[in-house]
Amino acid sequence: MLPCMYGVRRQFALLMAMLSIYPAATSVDNIYTAASRVLHPGSGRLRGEAVSTRTLLQGEHSCPLPEVDMTKDRYQCVVWKKACVDQNVIVSYDPEVHPTTSMGTLPTLNVTEIMYNIPSRYGIGDRYRKGSALRFPALYVRPSNDMEEEEELRKPSFSNCTLPMLLYAHYPYNAAETYRYIFEKLVTLQEAGFFNRYVTLVPGVPPGSKVPSYTKFWYNSLSDRGVVSLSELSSRRPTDTPPNTTWEGTHVRCFEQIVGCRIRYDGYGLRFYNAGQYVVRHYMPHYLAQAASFEQRLFELQQVRIPDDPSILKIVFISRTPHQSAVGRTILNEAEIIQRCNNAEGADVPQADWNVPYQKYFCFAHVFGDNQLMDVWLMRQVDVILGMHGAGLTNSFYMKPGGSVIEVRPFGFSGRESWANRYARFKTSSLREMPWNVFWYGIDTFNASLSEPGIFEKEDKLHYSKFRAIKARDRHVHLTWPAFRNQLLNIAAVARTFERYFALRLCGAYYITDDVQPAELPGNDPHVDKARQRTFSDPDAERRLILKMHLSNRNLQQAATPDRLGPKT
Ligand SMILES: *[C@@H]1O[C@H](CO)[C@@H](O)[C@H](O)[C@H]1NC(C)=O
Ligand SMILES: *[C@@H]1O[C@H](CO)[C@@H](O)[C@H](O)[C@H]1NC(C)=O
Ligand SMILES: *[C@@H]1O[C@H](CO)[C@@H](O)[C@H](O)[C@H]1NC(C)=O
Ligand SMILES: *[C@@H]1O[C@H](CO)[C@@H](O)[C@H](O)[C@H]1NC(C)=O
Repeated sequence: MLPCMYGVRRQFALLMAMLSIYPAATSVDNIYTAASRVLHPGSGRLRGEAVSTRTLLQGEHSCPLPEVDMTKDRYQCVVWKKACVDQNVIVSYDPEVHPTTSMGTLPTLNVTEIMYNIPSRYGIGDRYRKGSALRFPALYVRPSNDMEEEEELRKPSFSNCTLPMLLYAHYPYNAAETYRYIFEKLVTLQEAGFFNRYVTLVPGVPPGSKVPSYTKFWYNSLSDRGVVSLSELSSRRPTDTPPNTTWEGTHVRCFEQIVGCRIRYDGYGLRFYNAGQYVVRHYMPHYLAQAASFEQRLFELQQVRIPDDPSILKIVFISRTPHQSAVGRTILNEAEIIQRCNNAEGADVPQADWNVPYQKYFCFAHVFGDNQLMDVWLMRQVDVILGMHGAGLTNSFYMKPGGSVIEVRPFGFSGRESWANRYARFKTSSLREMPWNVFWYGIDTFNASLSEPGIFEKEDKLHYSKFRAIKARDRHVHLTWPAFRNQLLNIAAVARTFERYFALRLCGAYYITDDVQPAELPGNDPHVDKARQRTFSDPDAERRLILKMHLSNRNLQQAATPDRLGPKT
C-alpha cells in the first residue's frame, strides 16, 4: 500500500503545482473542499462528505478523481451507472435498473427538443430554409444483453478514473449561442462545485458531426481531459488507441458513471464576462508564453504592432477573410475607416481639457477565429473591439474591465426591428454583472444605400431562408465616419468608467444610427430602469456632462498594466 500512497501524493503535488499557476486556483480548490454530497464514481451512491483523497488507484495507475456533485445539479441531469458507450448508444449494466435483475427503470435523457442549424462552411446554417432548427435524434439508451457484438461490452470493466459528462444545449454550431446557452452556465456550475476538472466533457452534437473548435477551446478551460464527441468516445476502435480524453490513456468505453445533462437557457448564471475571464485565466500562462510569436504573426498578417502606450485608445476591427466576406457582413470601407481613425486629429480626438488618458487612436484589423489563443492575447491589449453583428463580438469578454464593444448592423437589421439586441448587448448588460465590465455601443444602419446584399440575399434560391431578418443580418455595410467618430469620442470620454458609460446609456447616446441619431426610443432598453431612460439630442452636450464624473482609476490602471501570472503559492 505504501508505494501506492507515494504515487497518490506525487500525483496530487503535481496537480496542485499545476493549479497554482492559475490565478483561478482558489475557485478551483473550492470544488474539492465543498463539504457536500459528492457523487463518487465507483461507490455508486452519494456520499455524505467530501473525499479527502482526490486520487484513485485503478489497476497500476493512479488518477485524480472525477467528481460530479448531484446536489448542485440545476438541470435534472441523469446518471447512468455501470454503462458503456457503443456507436452513440449508451448500454447500461446497472443491476438496479437491469431487466434481468430488477423492475427499475433505466434513466433516459430527452434531447429530441434540442435544435441545431446545419453546420455549413458559410457559418450559421440558418440561411437554408430547411437547415435551421433541425432536431436532435433521441439518445438511445438500452440495457446490456447476452448478444453484445463487441468484445469489450461482453466483459466490461468499468472505469472509475474517467467520468464522461454529456452536455446538450440548443444550437451547438452557433458560437454565440454556445457561449450563452451552455458555456457560461458550465463555468457558473463548475464554480458552484457541480463538477470538477477531471470530468470528461462530451458536447452534444448530431451523431457523427465534429465538435466545433470554439467549443473545444472554451470547454478546455473547464477540464483537464480532452473534449470529445459521443461519436468519437463511443467509436469501435482498438482499446490501445491513445486518446487524451480518458485518464487511462487508452480507448476506454465503459464507465462506473456517465452523467447526461440538457442545459436550458434560464435565469441561472448569466455571468458572461465572468465566463470570458475564466477562459483568460486558464489560458494566461499559454498566451503569455507565446506572446512573441503572436506579435510577429500579427505583424506579418496586418503590418501592425499594438502600442503599449496608455495614451493611445486601441481599437481592433473584426475583419473577415475573403471567403467569409463573400457570404456577407463585411465592412466594405474597412481600410478607409481604419486609415481615417489613425489619422484623426483636432475635433475628432479627445480634447486636452477632457482630462482623460487618451490623446489619439490606433485602429487595426484582425481576423478572429484562426487562432483562439492569439485572439485572447490580443483582446487583453485593446480597449475596443468593433465588428458587424456576429459571434466575433464574443471576444469582448476577454477584455480587461472597462473595455468597449461597438456593434455595427446593416440596414433592415436594427435592434428596432429584429432580435439583434439579444446577443452582444444582452450579454454585456447582464443584471448579474452590475457594474458592467464591458460597455456596449451600437451603430445601426438606417440608410439603405449604405448596405449591400450578402450572397444568400443576392442569389435568393428557393431553398434559402425567406426570413427578412436573416437576409438583412448578412448584408455588407459602409460604416460612416461621423457615427464611428462619435462612438470613439464617447468611449474616450467614458475612459473605462462604468458610471460615465451608464449615463450615456440612460440618455441613449451609446446607441446611434449611421447619421448619429438615437437608434432606440426611450423605455426600450430592457437592462436599464425604464423611468430613467431619455433621448439625447446633442451628443457633444452628453459627453460634456459625463466628463464631470469621477474616473475609474482602477480600470485605467489595470488596462495600462500588462498581464502577468499571479504569484505561485
Ligand atoms: C471502481 O471502484 C469500485 C468501488 O470502489 C471497485 O469495486 C471497482 O473494482 C473499481 N473498478 C475498477 C475497474 O478498478
Ligand atoms: C421529449 O420532450 C418533448 C418536449 O418536452 C416531449 O414532447 C416528448 O414527448 C418527449 N419525449 C420523450 C421520449 O419523453
Ligand atoms: C487532446 O488532444 C487534442 C488533439 O490532439 C488537443 O487539441 C487537445 O488540446 C488535447 N487536450 C488536452 C486536455 O490535453
Ligand atoms: C445615404 O447614404 C448615401 C451614401 O453615403 C448618401 O449619399 C445619402 O445622402 C444618405 N442619405 C441620407 C438620407 O442620409
